Amino acid sequence: MATTFPEGFVWGAATASYQIEGAVCEDGRGESIWDRFCHTPGKVAGGDTGDVADDHYHRWQEDLRIMKELGLGAYRFSIAWPRVIPDGTGAVNPAGLDFYERLVDGLLAAGIEPYVTLYHWDLPQALQEKGGWPNRDSASWFADYAAVVSARLGDRVHHWITHNEPFVAAFEGYGNGEHAPGICDPKAALQAAHHLLLSHGLAVPVLRQNGDEGTQVGITLNLTWVDPASERPADVEAARRYDGALNRFFLDPLFKGAYPADLLAYARDMAPHVEPGDLLQISTPIDFLGVNYYSRAIIADDPKGGPLAARQVVPAYAELTEMGWEVYPEGLYKLLRRVHDDYRPHALYITENGCALADRVVDGRVHDERRIAYLREHLLQARRAIDEGVPLRGYFVWSLLDNFEWAFGYSKRFGLVYVDYATQARILKDSARWYQQVAAANAVP
Ligand code: FCB
Repeated sequence: MATTFPEGFVWGAATASYQIEGAVCEDGRGESIWDRFCHTPGKVAGGDTGDVADDHYHRWQEDLRIMKELGLGAYRFSIAWPRVIPDGTGAVNPAGLDFYERLVDGLLAAGIEPYVTLYHWDLPQALQEKGGWPNRDSASWFADYAAVVSARLGDRVHHWITHNEPFVAAFEGYGNGEHAPGICDPKAALQAAHHLLLSHGLAVPVLRQNGDEGTQVGITLNLTWVDPASERPADVEAARRYDGALNRFFLDPLFKGAYPADLLAYARDMAPHVEPGDLLQISTPIDFLGVNYYSRAIIADDPKGGPLAARQVVPAYAELTEMGWEVYPEGLYKLLRRVHDDYRPHALYITENGCALADRVVDGRVHDERRIAYLREHLLQARRAIDEGVPLRGYFVWSLLDNFEWAFGYSKRFGLVYVDYATQARILKDSARWYQQVAAANAVP
């Protein structure tokens, strides 16, 4: 028996510029914080860099053919800011815009709707030299960049995502330093988070103005279902704090125009500086919320840590992916219900969901049954949420292609399509064939 999805449900796959494009020095692209970070010894596993990645910058037509073969209705990709404005502000690089224009036109000609993310973490290095996201000016730098891109593509792109996972950009980039630009300063991280949100709020009207009536603007958050490790009050409180930092710190300002009071109290002098009017700007109504969901978090108190301390525990019975993340499909259902009940976004998309596995090519094929099971279970939980009234409009697998997985380099494979990095050959995994059937039937077998 198959589980059918609502008519018009969007079936897509996602990627991000730095993870797939390569060609980092070509056609006038400027340096990004990820170029700098990767070339700093000890930052990325195996010394890997995005210099070549999937060479998508040169192979985009082949990748487009694959999307077409899979019958995707939509493709979520991101634009590299330093390709379009090499120094982050000022002079525009026409070749950068031309590349994305060719891609968008190619997608539209193939009947594939582009969902364009403006910021998936590759800040121009020149802007980091000016302080990066902790600098308040970053909000207007981003709005100006959004204006440049949408002036060119706004007549053809109808779905814009301002930011991908501002939590990760802020807290991993500026808080624990595991991502570019590698800064370890929790106060700067919270300030960066505020400016990322502010930049989103400034960009929303710009994108609408440069688009037509059908233009839909949203933001993508990494949201997680959080369970306390036990019923001990200290664990329950730690789980609440964790949920506050990860989920509510972003959802509350976007949908309620306020930061969560409990979290500001915990943050004490680390709380971000907020100017009058900022929260009104941040809570500018959006058309949809993008949700990236991979796993849940089970949280215990960490008595040794600071005011926001929490420790993640993984149960012994859990099925883990190559990332060490628990497979917990029901969390997707619970999370979608919770977001709908507490925040009522007009529409929701799952903008990323998928898993890293130790895929191997055997006789020219990749038998990734576990990925098929993962996708299937998550889709059934998504369907359950739709049944209960959650306005979920589409689903994007992370990722279309195996790619550069940030600090893990090329060691983690998330793709529907296997990439042999030595030859750049693309091999459709079994999960790609399976997803092709899902998209064609608008149903999960
Ligand atoms: C998300 C990122 C995406 C990818 C997946 C595995 O946090 O948005 O780029 O790395 O995780």
